[in-house]
Amino acid sequence: MKRHLISAADLTRDDAVLILDTAEEMARVADRPIKKLPTLRGRTVVNLFFEDSTRTRISFEAAAKRLSADVINFSAKGSSVSKGESLKDTALTLEAMGADAVVIRHHDSGAPHRLATSGWIGGSVVNAGDGTHEHPTQALLDAFTMRRRLVGADAGIGQDLAGRRITIVGDILHSRVARSNVHLLTTLGAEVTLVAPPTLVPFGVERWPCEVSYDLDSVVAKSDAVMMLRVQRERMNAAFFPTEREYARRYGLDGERMARMPEHAIVMHPGPMNRGMEITAEVADSPRCTAVEQVANGVSIRMAVLYLLLGGNEPAVTATSTPTEESK
Ligand code: NCD
Repeated sequence: MKRHLISAADLTRDDAVLILDTAEEMARVADRPIKKLPTLRGRTVVNLFFEDSTRTRISFEAAAKRLSADVINFSAKGSSVSKGESLKDTALTLEAMGADAVVIRHHDSGAPHRLATSGWIGGSVVNAGDGTHEHPTQALLDAFTMRRRLVGADAGIGQDLAGRRITIVGDILHSRVARSNVHLLTTLGAEVTLVAPPTLVPFGVERWPCEVSYDLDSVVAKSDAVMMLRVQRERMNAAFFPTEREYARRYGLDGERMARMPEHAIVMHPGPMNRGMEITAEVADSPRCTAVEQVANGVSIRMAVLYLLLGGNEPAVTATSTPTEESK
């Protein structure tokens, strides 16, 4: 693996399978009474969040702490960034504090790449979502959830998602989750179909390695997983569809549409959900919806990513780390 994780497109099939397999080991740690490993003791992970986040920030924090790293949480609100401090000066401050990894979420697409290639910091950079560009750890946790549900936790080890049919629905235009998923899922052998109103399909999508459809009903029955995306109003500067009702009717997932999915198929959502818009409460709360499971899986994936980036050459979980004195 490379030193940074900026884009899901940087991952080979073997890199991705290694991360998923390592996350499976990490998930077993979560089932123990003591959920901590000594692996990253003495290392410092900085969470640098310039944009709002609930799940991703908490998840990276939990992941770093479960690996015994020191964690510094930095949110732009209430920091000198609101006084106009630049990304460069912020980065130099973190470097002075000896950050081994910087997890960054930023409203500008490309900010993590800038940080990784600038030479301002020496540690690994992990993209936790940049503008409308990418969100690679979200795609990894989604792939992990699909592999567990569609292939099986134990049966999945070493496996990819070959031949699985994944449908991603909604605001593709503004979605970094969709971009990262298209890259990663196709690398893992899945067949991806995007469904959205024409106004929410990105320019140049014909060059993406996936199908595009404007008709949700024609694809739900052929999907192994249907991933619903949030309509991202905060990134919209125009009217992309006539009314919310019209959007929900054509592109929302309700109980009736869900009933047309194959029996084994799952419903996914990265959160936060707009209940009543892209997904009804009935679907969101049904056992077929993996939204909460995705959050739990996010911690395992982020543990795996931090462990592998920060030089995990030895097994992360060994027999001796089944609560040792050290890990207590
Ligand atoms: C997504 C994000 O922030 O890109 N959420 C997440 O990370 N769980 C999707 C969204 O905001 O809709």
